[in-house]
Amino acid sequence: MSHPLILFCYLVAAVLFIVGLKRLSSPKSAASGNLVAAVGMLLAIAATLLDREIVSFTGLIVAMAIGSAIGAATAYTVKMTAMPQMVAVFNGFGGGASALVASAELLRRLGAGEPPEVAVAIPIVLGVLIGSITFTGSLVAFAKLQDLMTGQPIVFPLQQVLNALLALALVAAAALLVLDPADLNPFWVVVGISLALGILLVVPIGGADMPVVISLLNSYSGLAACATGFALENHGLIIAGSLVGASGLILTMIMCRAMNRSLANVMFGAFGQAGGAGGAAAVAATGTVKSGTAEEAAMILEAARSVVVVPGYGLAVAQAQHAVRRLCDQLSDRGIDVKYAIHPVAGRMPGHMNVLLAEADVPYEQLVEMDEINPQLPNTDVALVIGANDVTNPDARENSNSPIYGMPIIEVDHCKTVIVCKRSMNPGFAGIDNPLFTLDNTMMYFGDAKTSVEDLSRELREL
Ligand code: TAP
Repeated sequence: MSHPLILFCYLVAAVLFIVGLKRLSSPKSAASGNLVAAVGMLLAIAATLLDREIVSFTGLIVAMAIGSAIGAATAYTVKMTAMPQMVAVFNGFGGGASALVASAELLRRLGAGEPPEVAVAIPIVLGVLIGSITFTGSLVAFAKLQDLMTGQPIVFPLQQVLNALLALALVAAAALLVLDPADLNPFWVVVGISLALGILLVVPIGGADMPVVISLLNSYSGLAACATGFALENHGLIIAGSLVGASGLILTMIMCRAMNRSLANVMFGAFGQAGGAGGAAAVAATGTVKSGTAEEAAMILEAARSVVVVPGYGLAVAQAQHAVRRLCDQLSDRGIDVKYAIHPVAGRMPGHMNVLLAEADVPYEQLVEMDEINPQLPNTDVALVIGANDVTNPDARENSNSPIYGMPIIEVDHCKTVIVCKRSMNPGFAGIDNPLFTLDNTMMYFGDAKTSVEDLSRELREL
């Protein structure tokens, strides 16, 4: 049992984690929440270093210096649109670390001639099993998002049967290992099958569904850490692991609900097998498309009393957030009421739009969640949709044959006028046509989001 002071440090760290998580739920307090949780982690690491019988601090310090340098460099350089794959790598390494620590604990006990009793063997096996699945699964998710392998679902005959047989063999080997931890043969079987299952479970999932998978793997990495915490009797690891496990699962469910899909459908539905960025095959747009110039768009905005900006993935790709903020400042200066409508899955990761707009110092009070903004849209003069597509698609509400039917949307089609800024008539993530683009009250304003918004700003200034 650890020293009471160490346990107290873990308790304080746990409280800081929980306060940090709570503060992450609002953009206003998120940055400080991150800091609070980081302080908690520092305290937990310091307590662990003081608590454990460290063999050599030199190795630890060198490893921490290298790890911190890589982490800091990546945090500064990685693009916001590449954040999902960065999180995938983090999850993978977290799972891999838990598997290694749990394995080391087993080997240490065997080396000392003290095979773990069942109550310790179970968390060791779970740590190895879940950690290994998370490791390879996350690497595949990373490879798909980074275009190192095809983002399309990889499916082959009897795939689910093979996975089911492997899962059964895994359970049997895990049970043998728990019953006789001194025999290392089942241990290697558990490691081998878990690593293989991580790959096999993720390859049939389309690249476009990876954010949900990454969130689920994030939850797994927490569960692996939690199991390893039980194996080591480390309270800090148990608490931090369960918080990650639970919050990752909640986030996964929120994302599934916001896309109106079940987790089973994401994991086994192979959404997007037929072409498109990640979804059903693209359908050619029908109906008349009206497109306008920057000058026309500026005139419409100038005449408005209220404007709702709907940001989407294209805004992130174009890095148009600062240009959009400047445009909105201009509108506000003219006495126009400006709000940003935030869809829960706009972009490619949870909170994507909030992070981007916060980067451009958009006032938090202008960010309005979907449920709150929708009732206000019939009284809104102009919706300015920038690089968003699926999250505004009226088919999700009206067309029961649409793959996204039932997904809640920002109902911009209820606004008096809609200006859609994107480069072409190409579909978005779901790979489907958007009838919004051919509505009578819609004007397409084609071009790259950043350049188009800057042109719009210039025209507005000249009016
Ligand atoms: P999308 O439906 O993917 O549409 C983005 C649009 O941006 C595209 O139609 C594209 O049209 C346009 N675009 C791309 N680059 C651009 C540029 N440089 N300038 C201007 N426009 C550009 O995005 P959304 O509306 O944000 O919806 C998000 C989708 O991702 C949803 O289907 C959601 O279910 C899915 N998803 C989200 C998450 C999370 S957590 N956010 C997780 C999984 C899946 P052009 O090519 O014509 O320009």
